[in-house]
Amino acid sequence: MTLPIYVLNGPSLNLLGTREPEIYGHATLADIERLCATRAKVYGLETVFRQSNIEGVLVDWIQEAREKASALIINGAAYTHTSIAILDALRAFDKPVIEVHLSNPFRREPFRRHSYVSLGSTGVIVGLKEHGYVLAIDALANMLESTSNDRRRTN
Ligand code: DQA
Repeated sequence: MTLPIYVLNGPSLNLLGTREPEIYGHATLADIERLCATRAKVYGLETVFRQSNIEGVLVDWIQEAREKASALIINGAAYTHTSIAILDALRAFDKPVIEVHLSNPFRREPFRRHSYVSLGSTGVIVGLKEHGYVLAIDALANMLESTSNDRRRTN
């Protein structure tokens, strides 16, 4: 049985749906949680979906994922651009990590163009609104499947 994919969301993503919809779209966080769970199910996978406004809580969840998750999807929101603590936690997580952003930070303010999270991520998906999370599940399902095939071949 494959461990679940953790989907972690940073500050103010709890306000999705009403927060700057012209930038982030109209889907709520609950909608995105449902999309992730439904897509994961197609591959026989489960998701653990969480949001926090607190940097240390996100660090704790990344540490928890070392034992309890097969892979991580993270939208660090504003902490993306500031948090060495989140980067260090990601570097201690030696399984696939996909960084997702609803908007495309590269066509916004210059301070959004640097991501600490990217330095600890396997791949990055930006600018595709909630669909980015679904694509991240597809990518991880593919990676997890090929790792388990490799394991089967060597056993
Ligand atoms: C975001 C982009 C960040 O720059 C911003 O601080 C967010 C949301 C996104 O999903 O587009 O809160 O991570």
